[in-house]
Amino acid sequence: MKIAVSGKGGVGKTTVAATLAKLFADSHKKVYAVDADPDACLAAAVGIPEEQIGELRPLVEMKELIDEKSSGGGAFFSLNPNVDDVLEQYSISLGNIKFLRMGGIKQGGSACYCRENSFLHALMNGLLFDRDSAVILDMGAGIEHLTRGTARSVDVMLVVAEPSRNSVNTANLVKKLAMDLGIKNIRFIGNKIRNEKERDFILKYLGEDEVLGFIPFDDEIWESSMESGPAAELGGELLRSMKEIHEKLLREVDK
Ligand SMILES: Nc1ncnc2c1ncn2[C@@H]1O[C@H](COP(=O)(O)OP(=O)(O)OP(=O)(O)O)[C@@H](O)[C@H]1O
Ligand SMILES: [Mg+2]
Repeated sequence: MKIAVSGKGGVGKTTVAATLAKLFADSHKKVYAVDADPDACLAAAVGIPEEQIGELRPLVEMKELIDEKSSGGGAFFSLNPNVDDVLEQYSISLGNIKFLRMGGIKQGGSACYCRENSFLHALMNGLLFDRDSAVILDMGAGIEHLTRGTARSVDVMLVVAEPSRNSVNTANLVKKLAMDLGIKNIRFIGNKIRNEKERDFILKYLGEDEVLGFIPFDDEIWESSMESGPAAELGGELLRSMKEIHEKLLREVDK
């Protein structure tokens, strides 16, 4: 199953993606957790040390794997048969989870995402990963670097929202963009929910049928973000509600 996670800045995309990676690691042979957002840090969110993350080479530099042939502005790739060996050099493993980083921080308004797109395309169209794998992409707020070709292989786009007007507006906008790209399955997750009123707010603005689940506000997670060093062990309320969301995904999306 291939899952893309998006939503407004700070709503909990990385937290959701990291927890899902852990849960999928129990049900799938391999899990690829990919930072497609230059600011995302999935690896840190599950407690991999900073030094190790700093050494992680971005996929956009993966020249050994992919033989690039450019023609007419588009890039086409053929794959090195030793995919696993090369992937090893571009990932950090934690059990059967592999963390990868797209890389390529763009200056505002500069250059296109052609190169990143082509890699993402290879990743998502199953050129790199087999069917038993789960791929979880932490997209960041903007999904404009997702092309139609890449979007086609996304099984579900999870849009995370917190109970605020701005956040639900962004969530609805992301949904519209994702639909325009041809993603069929787009579901919302309400995060940082403190009470019934906030839950109802999410349902009202995002739609009962579209909301896949809720995650309560967790003081422990919030407080741990003030500390330096590895993120708090994922657990408690977060894990409990994410387990329900994970099961729903397996039931409703992964047919
Ligand atoms: N359910 C929750 N309860 C309390 N705090 C939370 C919860 N989920 C996430 N947080 C906190 O909110 C902050 C933002 O979370 P996170 O980094 O996952 O969001 P993001 O959407 O990936 O942000 P960015 O847009 O910067 O990439 C973090 O400090 C995180 O610990
Ligand atoms: Mg993030």
